[in-house]
Amino acid sequence: MNIYNNENGDLTDRDFLLFKKYIYDKVGIDIEDHKKGLLRNRLKKRLKALGIGSYGEYYEFLRRSRDDELGYFISAVTTNVTSFFREPRQWEFLKANLKEYMASKKDGRLNIWSAGCASGEEPYTIAIFLRELLGNGYDYGKISILATDISEKALGKAKAGKYGANAITGLSAGQLNAYFIKETEGGETLYSVRESVRKSVEFKIFNLVYGNFAYVSPVKDFDIIFCRNVMIYFDSAVKKALVERFISRLAKGGYLLVGHSESLIEFGGGLDSRQYGVYSKK
Ligand SMILES: C[S@@+](CC[C@H](N)C(=O)[O-])C[C@H]1O[C@@H](n2cnc3c(N)ncnc32)[C@H](O)[C@@H]1O
Repeated sequence: MNIYNNENGDLTDRDFLLFKKYIYDKVGIDIEDHKKGLLRNRLKKRLKALGIGSYGEYYEFLRRSRDDELGYFISAVTTNVTSFFREPRQWEFLKANLKEYMASKKDGRLNIWSAGCASGEEPYTIAIFLRELLGNGYDYGKISILATDISEKALGKAKAGKYGANAITGLSAGQLNAYFIKETEGGETLYSVRESVRKSVEFKIFNLVYGNFAYVSPVKDFDIIFCRNVMIYFDSAVKKALVERFISRLAKGGYLLVGHSESLIEFGGGLDSRQYGVYSKK
């Protein structure tokens, strides 16, 4: 096979390597070789929308257009799978430990970062969870939830805060009633996050690998950072650097949550492991 043959519009091995390097350099994601088919399928739609006939041409277009095309490209290559109350054992952990942590704080403020928030289910879950944990009398003005992602498309959905029947399966009927408004749009039933929940969350586009941490938030010491199911796409060097930056932005005793299947043991000099996927800053 001539890997440089691009005539049939397929993603050649050469083009795949070019995209792979480009993604690593711009997003920090390490696309494994067996994901070539996945990348081809994800970019196909974009080529069609632009009327571009080959992946090689699209690569040149992407490089020439600089940041104009980058947003679409990133949205096409990132995986934004998420759900409400994902990883139930972590919510159990917070239910059992968070009040005690909060009692140790003098100002009663709680600063939380959902880093890699995808379409918003995670930060809205945080807001709902806190309302259920702290009850009606709490001053929710003291709680800030920063939610960031690199994908403009995912962030657009997160800001809209409207979810269809497939997305709301992790929520009880009581939670849907209390925190969502049921609407019908184009014949589809959607659940729109109520303003009382929405106002606790600030959404921002941010690249966790190449973005400047100094500008992501004025908060110097977060109480909880969620970065769940994001670092699985990064290699060891990128992960290590990111974990160090997270540690530098956590309050002492504050929590760093990663996905259940992720381990930070190899990078965690500054962290204590509390349970699967839950670490606290030493
Ligand atoms: C699988 S989703 C996880 C969503 C949520 N944290 C959860 O666990 O349900 C991973 C998210 O990480 C985002 N992501 C990937 N690389 C990123 C980067 N370099 N900077 C910021 N976000 C990134 C993707 O856009 C995607 O929305």
